[in-house]
Amino acid sequence: MQQYRIATVVGSLRKTSLNGRLADAVERLAPAHFSFERLRVDDLPLYNQDDDATPAASVVRMKSAVRAAQGLLFVTPEYNRSIPGVLKNALDHGSRPYADSAWAGLPAAILGTSPSAIGTALAQQHLRTILACLDVPVLCLPEAYIQAQQALFDDDGNIGAGSRPFFITWMSHYVAWIEAHAG
Ligand code: FNR
Repeated sequence: MQQYRIATVVGSLRKTSLNGRLADAVERLAPAHFSFERLRVDDLPLYNQDDDATPAASVVRMKSAVRAAQGLLFVTPEYNRSIPGVLKNALDHGSRPYADSAWAGLPAAILGTSPSAIGTALAQQHLRTILACLDVPVLCLPEAYIQAQQALFDDDGNIGAGSRPFFITWMSHYVAWIEAHAG
């Protein structure tokens, strides 16, 4: 059976990030032929086009990790009704120099959680716009605007019982999407 390596990008650097915990928990629902690697984005410099010809080692490392993947998973908070700057910075780095984007063609999906009822909906819509520009096909449905209530995770950090059926269904759509679109 073909193996699929997924690069997961979490849009929060916070140690106890809800979105980091969501990524951990959702990855555990994946079938055995899927594996996940968390992209390191905390040590990327601020993107500066002057550095395109001499990228930092952290940038080279991130782009090569993206290129080693067959698919992407974005799990992001919403900051001020958009995506966090750390995520935009990583996307910009991966997209340059011109015509040397690491993202192009990799199938993806977006998840996000926030304590508020809006559940990162606006950030996710902004991220879809950016990913369209990067030629990244994104899973449309099921949408996953997750309000982070107490029961979202159980004591072991897995998805809690009430949300589990939704995420199992979500994962089956994600797996089918990656299998259909990975090159
Ligand atoms: C937020 N938060 C937030 N929440 C939301 O639902 N919509 C928003 O626009 C914002 N804006 C925002 C801006 C900034 C700068 C911060 C720090 C936070 C709250 C946010 O959802 C909450 O802090 C989450 O816990 C952040 O995600 P992680 O770090 O837990 O993954």
